[in-house]
Parts: sequence; structure tokens; C-alpha cells
Amino acid sequence: MSQNPHARPEPHVSDVNVLVVEEFRANGGRVGGMFEGGDLLLLTTVGARSGREHTAPLGYARVGDRLLVVASAGGSDRDPAWYHNLIAHPMVRVELGTEEFGAVAVPMEGEERDRLFTEIVERIPGYGDYQKGTDRMIPVVSLERHYVWGEVTNLADKLVEVHTWLRSQLSHVRSEAEAYLADRGTGTGRPTPLGLSLQLRQHCLAFCESLSFHHDGEEFMFPHMTERNPDLADVVERLKAEHRTVNRLRGELEGLLADLSTADPERFRADLARMTEEMEAHLDYEEAELFPTLAAIPFPPVAPA
Ligand SMILES: [Fe+2]
Ligand SMILES: [Fe+2]
Repeated sequence: MSQNPHARPEPHVSDVNVLVVEEFRANGGRVGGMFEGGDLLLLTTVGARSGREHTAPLGYARVGDRLLVVASAGGSDRDPAWYHNLIAHPMVRVELGTEEFGAVAVPMEGEERDRLFTEIVERIPGYGDYQKGTDRMIPVVSLERHYVWGEVTNLADKLVEVHTWLRSQLSHVRSEAEAYLADRGTGTGRPTPLGLSLQLRQHCLAFCESLSFHHDGEEFMFPHMTERNPDLADVVERLKAEHRTVNRLRGELEGLLADLSTADPERFRADLARMTEEMEAHLDYEEAELFPTLAAIPFPPVAPA
């Protein structure tokens, strides 16, 4: 049988952090020693090169409704590994107190980054000393909680829930892109003729990553479905072909976002429109055809007695 793509090995924790992570989890997010009294969270990122999950304890600050971490690397001249990871894979996992949730990691830019960094330094002056000691601009990263999953009892409801989230993410990226382009049009925006914002890139890549993860899960499920209902064979073949089309569009979007300084915003807008068209048709067809079969399958799965 093929391997479930959702089954992942335990995230790696570097040796120096093992005890901190263990203590954090054993005490509902409270840690003593050098971290005593500080606000600490655990951030799990996916390795930019290794593709392996990695967990690191980090100090955090809340400014307004933003949850922020600072990529200070103890004042080093190089960005920490977790920062490189979240640029490559914006979907991250956060443990905060006793809560755990998925988030999109978005480095702040320009004046907003400077304003937030100043606010953080007022509370935690050490970050200001780190910035004075290096030429690198220390990144400030916002961890945007992406969704709170509801309670569902069968796979059809789960499918609709995930599709609703994917639709809303794509629509969010499109309106963000329109706002960005309008801003450029008025001449008050960014001075470069080409290029896209890092924030837009992170949101778009997070959507692409979630979409890919969802389709991998479906491809894993399809053989089980046709085994249960052989009449679905043709439907499943069409869905797989649509996955390939959407996958190609996803690859083009990711390629376009590889270099933000030269990415053509108008092409980005056109690619997003094409992706929306294909995605909506695919999601509608999938829901209409699979719903009756999926509604009879419990979710979360029931363990055999
Ligand atoms: Fe699908
Ligand atoms: Fe789907």
C-alpha cells in the first residue's frame, strides 16, 4: 500500500533545546532557568533544504493583534535557520501555552517592520543591542493563525471545510494582489516597476503549500474510494487529471515568486485568475461527485475494534 503523506516523523529539536522543549510541553508552556518569566513559544518549521520539521523555542511579543518573533539569532550576522525555513515554507506550527495551531509566517517589511521592532525593543531592550551589533536588518516575523478547524463527523463535511478554507485563502491572496497593484497605480506605493511584496508572496506560497498537501491526501484516498465504490473510477480519473492541471499552475506561481525583485505583478494577477478558475471548477465537481460516498465515511477515522 502507498504511504500516507500525512504521517510525518517527529520534528527535530537541536540538542541545546531538547530540555527546554520538554519542560515547555510538560508545564503548559512555562519554562524556568534563563527563560524564567519570559514569553516563550515553540515554532516548528520545515527545513528549507532537508524538508524535515524542526522545532525551536523562541521569545515572542504581542503588538496589537500580531504575534511576533524576532530572528535575532543572539545578535549573529546571519539569519537563524528557522528564518530560512519559513521563507521556503511559510506554513508553520506554533505551540503557545497549552495551545497548538497552524500559522502563516510573514516577515514584516518597511515602515511596519521598523515600527513593530521599536515597540518590541521598548519591552525587550536586548533586541536593540543585537541590532546595533550587526549590519543585517534583524527580521520581525508575524505568525498569522490560519484557521480553527471545527468539529466534523464525516469525510464529506471535512472536504467542504478544507475546500472552504482553500477558497477563502485564494480569494484573500487575490484581493491582496489587487490592493497592491492599485497602490502602485497611484504612485504612492513601492518605487520599483516590477516586484511583489514579501507578505503577498508568503500568503500565496502558504495557499500553494496547503493545496498541495490537500491534493496529496486525496490522491492517497482515491484508491480506497474506488475500492469502496467502483462506479467512481471515471470520476477519480478526471479529478486526478484536474489535480495535474492545478499542480502545473501552482508550479508556475511558485516559480514566479522565486525572485520577488523581478516578479511581474501583472503576470501574477493573470496566473491567480487562471488558478481561481481551475480551482473553483475542480472543487465544485469534486464536491458534487464525491459527497454521497464521503458522507458515509466517519471522520476522524474510527479505529477498528
Ligand atoms: Fe481535489
Ligand atoms: Fe479537494
